[in-house]
Amino acid sequence: MSKTNTHATDIKSADEEEPNIKVAITDGIATITLNRVKNLNVFTEETLHEFYDILEKVSQDEVVKVVVLLSACEKAFTAGADIKKMVKMGFNEGRAWSQLGHKIARKLETIPQPVIIGLHRYVLGGGVEFACACDIRIAAEDTVFSQPEIDIGVIPGWGGTQRLSRIVGIAKAKEMIYTGMRINAHEALEIGLVNHVVPRENLQEAVMTIAQTMAAKGKLALFGCKRSINKLHDSFLPEGLEYEIDRWSELFDTHDQKEGMRAFLEGREPEFKDE
Ligand code: CAA
Repeated sequence: MSKTNTHATDIKSADEEEPNIKVAITDGIATITLNRVKNLNVFTEETLHEFYDILEKVSQDEVVKVVVLLSACEKAFTAGADIKKMVKMGFNEGRAWSQLGHKIARKLETIPQPVIIGLHRYVLGGGVEFACACDIRIAAEDTVFSQPEIDIGVIPGWGGTQRLSRIVGIAKAKEMIYTGMRINAHEALEIGLVNHVVPRENLQEAVMTIAQTMAAKGKLALFGCKRSINKLHDSFLPEGLEYEIDRWSELFDTHDQKEGMRAFLEGREPEFKDE
């Protein structure tokens, strides 16, 4: 990426006029906007690769001190991973899919710059998992969070079993993950999942205010803070993440994963057989 003060890079998908993800860099802040507005910002394989490439570029851009992550889709920050794609996967593809999501979450977590995410409406599955890999989470009042994987016959596969527990505590994470329950923005604030809740119309401003405060600090100390705080859980996290990939992948050899995902796509209740 260039070193100018203000620039933008958009990656356009082959079949859409609008880019899947937009990037703009201004005054040391890179704003990444998920832009699959017609598709609830569902993460397809293409979008996941694009997202990773953007994070890689941004992380190496000398002028970027803070990264902001937003969604341009009115109805959902994101409805999570692409079930239409996952329903057809077996063990190996399921494993590769999990690894790809993990690679992005890990990138968000370990890029030198702090990442602030501004959340609204539905933040489901992989959306919660990516949010948990960010440094600061700000939610609009209308945000609804859920790890609904249990209802489609799988477990969270992009780090949710590891990072959510670390942020909200094991008791609440287990309740959310075992039941697939939805929680609202105020409940999310209460359990420490988000740092602040603001009216939807103030979301971007609230995120940018924090980003600007951080961008005004010295880069060396700012990046040093992130690295040092991350060290707190880094000794155990990678092992836990690998374990989650194994548990996720083995479910792709089961009836229940196929049934759970088919039932969602067909708009009916799943009939799990425990096999
Ligand atoms: N993948 C693929 N398609 C999806 C999707 C997803 N994650 N979420 C929604 N859609 C599709 C629906 O199938 C539907 O498609 P059609 O128009 O072709 O029928 C369209 O988007 C609109 O969805 P709904 O009809 O369900 O719209 P709604 O307004 O009634 O509900 C919603 C919106 C609450 C977001 C609902 O779609 C929903 O609950 N989606 C959640 C899906 C989910 O379980 N996400 C987690 C996936 S697993 C994951 O992300 C984690 C991981 O670890 C990898």
